[in-house]
Amino acid sequence: MKEIKFIIIENKALTDSVYRLRLGGDTSAITAPGQFVNIKLDGKFLRRPISVCDRSGSMLTLIYKTVGTGTEQLSTMKKGEQLDILTGLGNGYDLKPSGDRPLLIGGGVGVPPLFALADDLLQKGCKVTAILGFNTADEIFYADEFRMLGADVFITTVDGSAGIKGFVTDAMKALDYTYFYACGPEPMLKAVYRTSKTEGQLSFEKRMGCGFGACMGCSCRTVTGWKRICKEGPVLRKEEILWEN
Ligand SMILES: Cc1cc2nc3c(=O)[nH]c(=O)nc-3n(C[C@H](O)[C@H](O)[C@H](O)COP(=O)(O)OP(=O)(O)OC[C@H]3O[C@@H](n4cnc5c(N)ncnc54)[C@H](O)[C@@H]3O)c2cc1C
Ligand code: FES
Repeated sequence: MKEIKFIIIENKALTDSVYRLRLGGDTSAITAPGQFVNIKLDGKFLRRPISVCDRSGSMLTLIYKTVGTGTEQLSTMKKGEQLDILTGLGNGYDLKPSGDRPLLIGGGVGVPPLFALADDLLQKGCKVTAILGFNTADEIFYADEFRMLGADVFITTVDGSAGIKGFVTDAMKALDYTYFYACGPEPMLKAVYRTSKTEGQLSFEKRMGCGFGACMGCSCRTVTGWKRICKEGPVLRKEEILWEN
């Protein structure tokens, strides 16, 4: 983990409520796709965790949705302003068990961490398929970016305004894959877990305190004991997950 001052290069709206933040600074502590950073905001006691969407050289890309005061404040920040960020947090996805045809499944702001993962898996020589799920067509972001990387992309929308009508699990059923990687809201993760035909890894977005393993505020029970989502997670393997309800 490193505490780094990043300069905002771009803070651009991709949809009505989703923004892409491009930052310049030291990204060397980020070692795996699926890791996250924790952003300090003026006047806020707790930092706000956001997944790494992409990292190349000294450029860090994050995608966030405005849901409350912290992310609203972030959306007003301008090019040239500075952010204090803890980087290289969490375990990230493990590419080793992917097989040659991994399936990536993202819902809403669970899509961004799958972008760097798709890139890494494609570079490893895998044939990557991604299912990106949204509520409506106007919420869709990054589908073209995944296609430009070389992934096969399926879109699902709950209202049927684009792609397959329904949930990500409706698209999963017809596909053949060697392993899966998922990120999204917990009800989606639970449905993916139940629908999946192979082993896989799921990334959880739990409310966090410190974000680096000190407060135990994000602990959850797994088959192999208690784990801190910020430290031993946010990615858990399918076989270690214990659903609480
Ligand atoms: C490991 C991790 C990675 C994340 N990656 C992303 C990402 O890439 N893009 C993105 O948009 N968001 C991501 N989140 C969620 C993001 O951290 C929260 O949306 C953000 O902290 C909300 O801050 P706020 O001040 O705007 O909202 P608040 O005013 O704090 O809360 C507003 C609403 O958002 C909910 N909320 C707040 N924090 C979380 C959280 N951690 N998880 C789920 N719901 C929350 C609250 O329950 C409330 O309903 C991630 C969270 C975690 C733990
Ligand atoms: S948020 Fe403090 S231990 Fe995870």
